[in-house]
Amino acid sequence: MLSFVICHLIAHCMLLISFQAAETARDTLMYPWRTATGTAILTAAFLVHFSNALWSIYVRRSLRLSRWEWAQLSLGLCIPALLMAHVVSTPIAANLLNVTPYYNTVLIVQWLIFPWLGVVQFFVVLTVWTHACIGIHYWLRIRSWYPRWRPFLFSVALLLPALALAGFIAGGNEILRAAKDPNFAKTALDDANLTDRTLDKVGQIERAGWSIWLGLVLLPFAARGVRSWLYRRRKPPMLAHAGGRTVPILPGATVLETLRESGIAHASVCGGRARCTTCRILVTKGLDELPAASGLEAKALARFGAMPGTRLACQIRPTADIAVTPLLAADASAADGALPGGLEGRERPITVVFVDMRGSTSLGEAKLPYDVLFILNQFFHEMTRALLATNGHYSQFTGDGLMALYGLHAKDAASGAADALRGARDMLKRLDQLNERLRTDLHEQLRIGIGIHYGEAIVGSMGPPRSQIITAIGDTVNTCARLEGLTKDFGCNVIISRPAAEAAGIRLDGYELHQASVKGRMEPVEFYALGTLTELAS
Ligand code: FES
Repeated sequence: MLSFVICHLIAHCMLLISFQAAETARDTLMYPWRTATGTAILTAAFLVHFSNALWSIYVRRSLRLSRWEWAQLSLGLCIPALLMAHVVSTPIAANLLNVTPYYNTVLIVQWLIFPWLGVVQFFVVLTVWTHACIGIHYWLRIRSWYPRWRPFLFSVALLLPALALAGFIAGGNEILRAAKDPNFAKTALDDANLTDRTLDKVGQIERAGWSIWLGLVLLPFAARGVRSWLYRRRKPPMLAHAGGRTVPILPGATVLETLRESGIAHASVCGGRARCTTCRILVTKGLDELPAASGLEAKALARFGAMPGTRLACQIRPTADIAVTPLLAADASAADGALPGGLEGRERPITVVFVDMRGSTSLGEAKLPYDVLFILNQFFHEMTRALLATNGHYSQFTGDGLMALYGLHAKDAASGAADALRGARDMLKRLDQLNERLRTDLHEQLRIGIGIHYGEAIVGSMGPPRSQIITAIGDTVNTCARLEGLTKDFGCNVIISRPAAEAAGIRLDGYELHQASVKGRMEPVEFYALGTLTELAS
């Protein structure tokens, strides 16, 4: 349908040149749509589109929609009514009443005989085009390439209807000038067989069309009324929201509709089409009562690697009590929908690594700020490359060091510990190379201390809105920071906790097992102090 509209508007633009140019453009561009196949495709597309809109009104259990959803739906519903006069007086009149619609006769009707039709035509273009642009924008905005293309698409979206309307006005003005000749309109209308009799018939068909349109638009609203009357006496299942509210579930409603109807804000960037995944929830009660995810929902869940128990609020229609926790903020954006699953903040085993640069204070005293930044940036560049090469995830900056996570996406969390050891080895190697490169710039070689620990932590995307990072919190993180600090006391490069060493599967028979207390932790942590990692190389 959009391609038909674009062809039609391009032909209108040609009115800026002449009627002849517009007729030629229309005959060429509209030819495919005038064939039997083209007409069948266009009619089917219209019927499917319109029926879909009517069905969506009926099937929704809540009509609390976002502004853009309302705008798209109501503009779409208005289009058949606004287009009725134009469609009846052109293709329908051509087929049923032997009328030949030319550009000039259409404009004579819209500018001379029924000027109000000209105004309607103006609004038809704006309505159809706005409806289409909203649909395209909300369809594409979850695509990664879209922000780059948006300025170009926006320019096209502005230019095409502007030029088409300018053409419509230019054509109308030409008709007004030509109408100074008293015979002009009559001759042109007679040529097209637009007589009083055919105009009368056109009017009758239009009125019948408007009545059918009105009946169809009212039908889903009436059906909604009957349905709620039938369901009124049933005791509904309840939905418990992590925010503390428990609300009734409307019969057949999705979780998203139930939340909206109850005024509980919930993310839904695509408006419930299983595209954006921002409505993702963790079902903490009633999961067994739900049918397994299938179709679009199953595809979307697989796309972001959903953890067990995750469902899309816009796709599930609970019939029994259910408890849910939203996994993204209510104002989540399309970009948040790309966040991989399993990072919504849950306790899981993870390997944490702290890296700290030794003597960075004296570096600042001995060097100019610019030199310090240059050295630090080189240092972080090398450390990050070591992380990338060994499946590590840079989590956060800690002043003169960093915190990293290993095993974030690994199927076997313990394998992260082995990767962390490889990462530590790579960091030390890269540090040696960096020291060599900066030999003339450094008074003292750069040194680092690395702490590695493996245990349970809350892992997820955290932080202020729009600045969230994937990190971990909890005892495992504090313990790892403490181990890194102990590298100074032991004068070694790496300290690895016993759980991390066991998870990595390395034998440290010849090494002494030390113990140290950790603030806020009852049990001391057991660890090995490693001078070099070369002997552990696998
Ligand atoms: S609202 Fe977009 S997937 Fe559910």
